[in-house]
Amino acid sequence: MDTRQKVLVTSDIPIEGIELLQSHFDVQVFNSNCGIKREELIKNIRDKQAVLCLLSDIIDKEVMDSANELKVISNYAVGYNNIDMAEATRRGIAITNTPDVLTNATADLAWTLLFSAARRVVEADIYTRHGNFKAWAPKLLLGQDITGRTIGIIGAGRIGRAFGKKAMAFDMEILYHNRTREESFEKECGATWVEKEELLRRSDFVSLHCPLTPETKHLIGEKELSLMKSTSILINTSRGPVVDEIALAKALEEKRIWSAGLDVYENEPYIEEKLLKLSNVVLLPHIGSATIETRKKMSIMAAENIIAILNGDIPKNVVNIELYP
Ligand code: DGY
Repeated sequence: MDTRQKVLVTSDIPIEGIELLQSHFDVQVFNSNCGIKREELIKNIRDKQAVLCLLSDIIDKEVMDSANELKVISNYAVGYNNIDMAEATRRGIAITNTPDVLTNATADLAWTLLFSAARRVVEADIYTRHGNFKAWAPKLLLGQDITGRTIGIIGAGRIGRAFGKKAMAFDMEILYHNRTREESFEKECGATWVEKEELLRRSDFVSLHCPLTPETKHLIGEKELSLMKSTSILINTSRGPVVDEIALAKALEEKRIWSAGLDVYENEPYIEEKLLKLSNVVLLPHIGSATIETRKKMSIMAAENIIAILNGDIPKNVVNIELYP
């Protein structure tokens, strides 16, 4: 009789993590590139002690009701708003995530969006491919300066701070807003804590790096957008619902802000139709952590999180830490 513990992997993640899990457990992998259908998840999680899931897999009460054996939910992401944390904690199920390894990849992507939006890279690429480049022109595709401007960072966790550190290379004034002051960030980067309203008024670029919680839902809406300069650029690589997408589309359409760069959306993978029609927004398909190196590290970390918990060790990346007093 096979007494090995059972793990469900809901998607085709890099092989390193899967092989690591296979050396300890019976592993069932769904070979889809984008997660598992909900009915399949509910059916296949039944006899599993662990699940390794994506940020698009909703792990709620109904899923947990069908998972009597479950001890750990290992999220293949740093954000874990897809998991009902209160319900998991009540049942003694550990939730783990993949912090640190994706910090720079995600911060780099926020910069990629900022540069693309400020220098109109996507518009320029389309223009060039369509054979429109006939001559150098003084007023062709004018964008915004980046060096020496003011950057406003909302959320000074690992990714927000890494994003801020990179702003130093462009001699920027760094403003940030966070629930708590981050003195080491202030010392290292010369960042200044300000109220959200002041940040929105003063910044040339605003980049969002906060987790999605009931408090941060629609943190940027009609009122906040109206505080921003008409030349401002909004970057979101955190979670879609942090921004009121309809209000953003309206502000962009009416040119009340200059442009935006988005990697995340309110109802992924659906993207608000109005945004799709605008040329002053750069749209990416939630690829913040999508580098070969980072995704490999995430796969190993997500597997190690499961191994630690199923082997009864103290795991490093548990988010409902109250389970381990
Ligand atoms: C995360 O890990 O939460 C990111 O959104 C993945 O890109």
